[in-house]
Amino acid sequence: MKPIKIIGTGRYLPPKSVSNEELSKVMDTSDEWIRDRTGIRARRVVEGNTATSHLAAKAIENACADAGIEPAQLDGIIVGTCSPDTLFPSTACWVQDHLQVRGMPAFDVMAGCSSFLYGLEVASNWVAGNPNKRVAVCGAEVFSKILNWDDRRTSVLFGDGAGAAIVSGRVEGDSGILASNWGSDGTLASILQVPAGGTRMPATHATVDERAHTVYMEGSKVFKHAVTAMSQGLLDALATAGVGPEDIDVFIPHQANLRIMEAARERAKIPVERVFSVLDDYGNISAASIPVAICEAREAGVLKDGQLLAMTAFGTGLTWAAAVLRW
Ligand code: UT7
Repeated sequence: MKPIKIIGTGRYLPPKSVSNEELSKVMDTSDEWIRDRTGIRARRVVEGNTATSHLAAKAIENACADAGIEPAQLDGIIVGTCSPDTLFPSTACWVQDHLQVRGMPAFDVMAGCSSFLYGLEVASNWVAGNPNKRVAVCGAEVFSKILNWDDRRTSVLFGDGAGAAIVSGRVEGDSGILASNWGSDGTLASILQVPAGGTRMPATHATVDERAHTVYMEGSKVFKHAVTAMSQGLLDALATAGVGPEDIDVFIPHQANLRIMEAARERAKIPVERVFSVLDDYGNISAASIPVAICEAREAGVLKDGQLLAMTAFGTGLTWAAAVLRW
């Protein structure tokens, strides 16, 4: 048990929403195909020069306001993203620039869609036992700028957005992380990647012409591993926490595809009405999906103090992570 308390949550979704119908006017797809295969109805997309750090800074600002603190009072800023502003510096440092705060360590965690839970693991180890420490963990993505909009197999799936949580070492009641696990299998790194732009394939005119700076995904392979990793991580976390599926009040899986979420829920035998989802409105917002869903679950009065929250995720790497948290 890691004694922590999430004292504030915040989110920021860019206002522009693009529906499946709108996509079907510009590419060979349909609302029916996208909804049947994924559960997605619409996604948010940024406009103009908006970068991942802009969304992250707003989500962190909102989470700090919810916690009743100023961003300058944070002891650390962790941003989980696989669509960073720049190769370097980290998106978290750009966030400091937006928020005009300095001094506290700020760094990125890059574990794809598992990044928020990876960040939560780092932050909870950091603050547990330190009642005065507060660390912001944010999941933020601008996928719309790293997608190949001519590839219907990937472009319809993802969206932009950010969610954040302020993790504190000051415990209330018996709040804390009952169990968590994380892992990765880099032998599967190639099946979901942005091939160019790093040191493996530096940017050239040819890489731009070949659209190698956009998301490449072997969808059905990712699907298969996602179901296994999300279910196993969740089952292990429940077993370590010593709680049964019926004890879980709210279940927030990473929201990539309704079929994957449903398979993980079924294997863990968590009742269907305990799932909280934002997938249909936002699409797959990768690292942001869990913190955005947590924030909306709180706003909707679904997630309350003292309740048990189960989370599980998988992402590029491949990575996975799960946690059971007493809110
Ligand atoms: O957060 C981690 C990120 N990744 C994921 O979570 C993705 C995991 N994978 C998936 O969710 C699924 O594999 C997809 C939703 C990406 C695809 O679903 P699928 O049931 O595996 O479809 P498929 O790739 O086997 O494609 C079936 C058919 C193909 O046509 P043919 O070859 O059977 O004629 C595709 O060309 O569907 C076609 N297709 C589309 N049709 C209309 C693929 N994309 C589209 C599209 N609209 N957008």
